[in-house]
Amino acid sequence: MAESGNLNDAFMDELQDAYDAEKQLTKALPKMAKAATSPELRSAFESHLKETKGQIDRLERVFESLGEKAQGKHCDGIAGIIEEGSSVMDEDFDETTMDACLIAAGQRAEHYEMAAYGTLVAWAKTLGLPEAAGLLEETLNEEKAADEKLTALAEGGINQLAADALGGNDDEEEDDDDEEDEADETEAAPAKGKQTATATARKR
Ligand SMILES: [Fe+2]
Repeated sequence: MAESGNLNDAFMDELQDAYDAEKQLTKALPKMAKAATSPELRSAFESHLKETKGQIDRLERVFESLGEKAQGKHCDGIAGIIEEGSSVMDEDFDETTMDACLIAAGQRAEHYEMAAYGTLVAWAKTLGLPEAAGLLEETLNEEKAADEKLTALAEGGINQLAADALGGNDDEEEDDDDEEDEADETEAAPAKGKQTATATARKR
């Protein structure tokens, strides 16, 4: 194959990929909002939907700044993440567990986008495209904030509610068994700055 593509071409490919990914997300986010039980989680998805529409507009400005027509190229990565999310929605989970799973699905999408925009910002800077870099960085920051909001919701109660729904044995913080307590305490503190899977491995 002739090797004529360069970093400019790769940058354009990534932009088209991101443009398509955002469009796919505008269809997925309303479904996630609808499936959420927690009002805070629903409104987080709804406000990220608004943000996502703004990100599409921003990408159009990036294309324009490069003298290119805005167009998408199917993003298989986000399609897979959305597909996984929608198969979780088909599961028969209790409401709070579903909320915890929706957060997990949402964070997969955010991290995918953070990786994509992180690359786009770095490449735009390297290619000497400060206007594009600035616009893309605004979106990168929105994605990071959306991810942090989901972490805060998970760790601020939704994971615990899901754990409490495990089936009545939710007094594990009470000190009625010394041997198990030691192990519990080492697991109890959530890692700072990231969501941890707290709903597993309950001791009976
Ligand atoms: Fe986005």
